[in-house]
Amino acid sequence: MKILVYLSVWLQVFISSNAQLTKFLSIDCGASSPYNDSDLGIQWETDDKYIMTGTARQMREGPGLPKQLYSYRYFPSPRSKQCYVLPVETETTYLLRARLFPGFRETLSVDLPVDFNVTFINNLFFSYSASTDRDRVDAIYESVFHSFERKEIYLCLVPGSKGTPFINSIELRRLPQTSYTITTSLPGVPQFLVLGDRLDMGAKPGDSFLRYPYDEFDRFWWPAVPPSFPNFTTFKVEESSPMMKNLTFGPSPGEDIEDLLKFNWPPNRTLTDAWIGPDLAFQIKRSRLDTNEVYVAFYFLEIRPDSEVLDNETHALFVCPTCSVEDILHGNCFFRRSPTQITLEEVVLNDNVINVNVTSDPGVGTILNAFEYYYRYDFNISATYSKDKIALHELQVSFGLQDWQGDPCFPVAWEWLACDSETSRIQKLKLSQMNISGQIPGNISNLMELTEIHLDNNNLQGGIPKSLVSLPKLQRLALDNNDLIGEIPIEFQNKEGFTFTGNPGLGNTTTGSNAPGPSPQISGAVKSNRRAGILFQAIICLASLFVITSVQ
Ligand SMILES: *[C@@H]1O[C@H](CO)[C@@H](O)[C@H](O)[C@H]1NC(C)=O
Ligand SMILES: *[C@@H]1O[C@H](CO)[C@@H](O)[C@H](O)[C@H]1NC(C)=O
Ligand SMILES: *[C@@H]1O[C@H](CO)[C@@H](O)[C@H](O)[C@H]1NC(C)=O
Ligand SMILES: *[C@@H]1O[C@H](CO)[C@@H](O)[C@H](O)[C@H]1NC(C)=O
Ligand SMILES: *[C@@H]1O[C@H](CO)[C@@H](O)[C@H](O)[C@H]1NC(C)=O
Ligand SMILES: *[C@@H]1O[C@H](CO)[C@@H](O)[C@H](O)[C@H]1NC(C)=O
Ligand SMILES: *[C@@H]1O[C@H](CO)[C@@H](O)[C@H](O)[C@H]1NC(C)=O
Ligand SMILES: *[C@@H]1O[C@H](CO)[C@@H](O)[C@H](O)[C@H]1NC(C)=O
Ligand SMILES: *[C@@H]1O[C@H](CO)[C@@H](O)[C@H](O)[C@H]1NC(C)=O
Ligand SMILES: *[C@@H]1O[C@H](CO)[C@@H](O)[C@H](O)[C@H]1NC(C)=O
Ligand SMILES: *[C@@H]1O[C@H](CO)[C@@H](O)[C@H](O)[C@H]1NC(C)=O
Repeated sequence: MKILVYLSVWLQVFISSNAQLTKFLSIDCGASSPYNDSDLGIQWETDDKYIMTGTARQMREGPGLPKQLYSYRYFPSPRSKQCYVLPVETETTYLLRARLFPGFRETLSVDLPVDFNVTFINNLFFSYSASTDRDRVDAIYESVFHSFERKEIYLCLVPGSKGTPFINSIELRRLPQTSYTITTSLPGVPQFLVLGDRLDMGAKPGDSFLRYPYDEFDRFWWPAVPPSFPNFTTFKVEESSPMMKNLTFGPSPGEDIEDLLKFNWPPNRTLTDAWIGPDLAFQIKRSRLDTNEVYVAFYFLEIRPDSEVLDNETHALFVCPTCSVEDILHGNCFFRRSPTQITLEEVVLNDNVINVNVTSDPGVGTILNAFEYYYRYDFNISATYSKDKIALHELQVSFGLQDWQGDPCFPVAWEWLACDSETSRIQKLKLSQMNISGQIPGNISNLMELTEIHLDNNNLQGGIPKSLVSLPKLQRLALDNNDLIGEIPIEFQNKEGFTFTGNPGLGNTTTGSNAPGPSPQISGAVKSNRRAGILFQAIICLASLFVITSVQ
């Protein structure tokens, strides 16, 4: 277990570069036009640029909630996932926030019950579920991640068993490059943090959360509700007080520059108030049980006047954010009148709660200004084999299927694909009855691991590309009921699993399949109706019925 103490780290270099780091992408999903939020000074965009599916909806605006909660995008078409494609810069740390508000009970609000998952770079960001009107609240989810080599990331809604997935807003905020650094991870090993809580100690409970412009990175800091501590008080100074104006910044002697860079830059305003007490112990109920690892950060600033601080500025503080009695952690923090951060990476042993205990030597009142914790995950780096992804994209362009966005195979494959989750290769194309027109692109054969291609019951034209013959694992090729012309490659003729019926212009229509092919007229009728196979079957039955009755 490591304890890192960052003292006096507001380096001048950062102060000058922070203005430039403040870069926001704020998407109001489903909004009809962009707008400026004059209270916050944030510019909101519509989501049209970032997603090609779903339907935009606007509810009647109500009092008290921000505008972006009254529009949402929802996804009534049953797809295995629907993904936003969000631009990021490589090697950059970001805060991602999603907000979901199903609206109050009124027309155009979201129908309940609903449940679905939201994934992010193939990791579970959160599971959303709402079933009664009591769940009609503003649900906020945040995460911190590092982009590494990525230039775009996918935020996907994966439907569950009930209702229609929806989302109200997506916000990306660039954080200082090295903030929220996980010390135990090997360099370059991706980590994914999901916010548990971010608390402003000493703020008035019931107040709204603090955000931009007070936090230049627009994190939300919620007022902490204090447990009933013995001999507990809060303390507050004005941000304009000489004490705050007088904060000393700059490295303290002997400090490692790399540690300084890991500072998370809590906003000044969260530091102007604090909990004071001999034993600040509180307990957090875990909202996620799918990881036992947490990242916690404590922020301290001695804001009391000298006369109230016992001893001098070097009294000790023991931090015990421990999760079991056996695993008590003692770290020393010597108070300074400059912002101090203590970061810990913990393995949570207890199943349901995280115990946090900030205490000091007997007789000394300790202080806590702000606190955050995150659930830690190793990044799930599963992604479709890149050559397959490129080849598939070309196929999507040829067939007009570009509105399937996100990674083809992960976290769940598009419903018209089957992938091998071990090799991340695409194995099956299941594009029957998809109303696809145009030619079969020859470079479909770049999907080298294909075992099955189903393109039957579409409006495909042109010939069968010879290159298909080169697919080494192909066992099934269904091209029935299209408008294909030309010849069937000799290798595919009379081969079991390779079917071509219902293409009037195609030679060698007798195939390995023993099913009697429908006459060209019937299949033509089916195609122009663009109907499903069931209807197709029904027409064949009706046709035979007609033959029988007319004979009688
Ligand atoms: C929002 O404000 C910015 C900067 O002040 C301005 O450039 C932009 O045009 C405004 N957008 C809208 C939609 O008003
Ligand atoms: C949502 O995620 C949870 C946790 O990983 C999983 O158990 C559940 O099956 C997922 N649901 C869907 C619809 O993917
Ligand atoms: C609270 O403070 C009073 C007076 O300073 C002291 O007598 C008492 O023991 C304290 N109680 C606790 C639980 O620390
Ligand atoms: C501000 O800093 C100066 C120099 O360190 C110090 O003399 C002064 O007492 C400080 N003022 C306050 C209000 O802390
Ligand atoms: C925080 O306070 C310091 C010292 O008063 C000041 O230099 C800095 O600009 C403040 N930061 C913000 C975001 O207000
Ligand atoms: C907090 O830690 C101190 C010192 O280890 C201990 O005396 C105290 O009982 C703890 N408080 C709680 C609520 O666990
Ligand atoms: C700080 O406080 C400790 C303990 O009360 C005391 O021993 C020490 O002399 C003090 N140091 C200064 C510089 O006042
Ligand atoms: C990553 O995600 C994929 C699909 O969601 C899953 O099959 C795989 O087990 C995950 N891998 C890890 C290491 O969690
Ligand atoms: C099939 O595609 C054509 C044009 O590509 C379009 O006009 C038609 O509406 C589509 N039919 C269905 C059922 O999607
Ligand atoms: C793949 O095929 C499509 C359609 O025939 C063509 O536009 C594209 O350039 C081809 N790509 C490559 C890499 O050959
Ligand atoms: C397939 O059709 C072509 C021309 O349409 C013909 O030359 C060839 O003999 C046929 N082969 C078989 C096996 O029927």
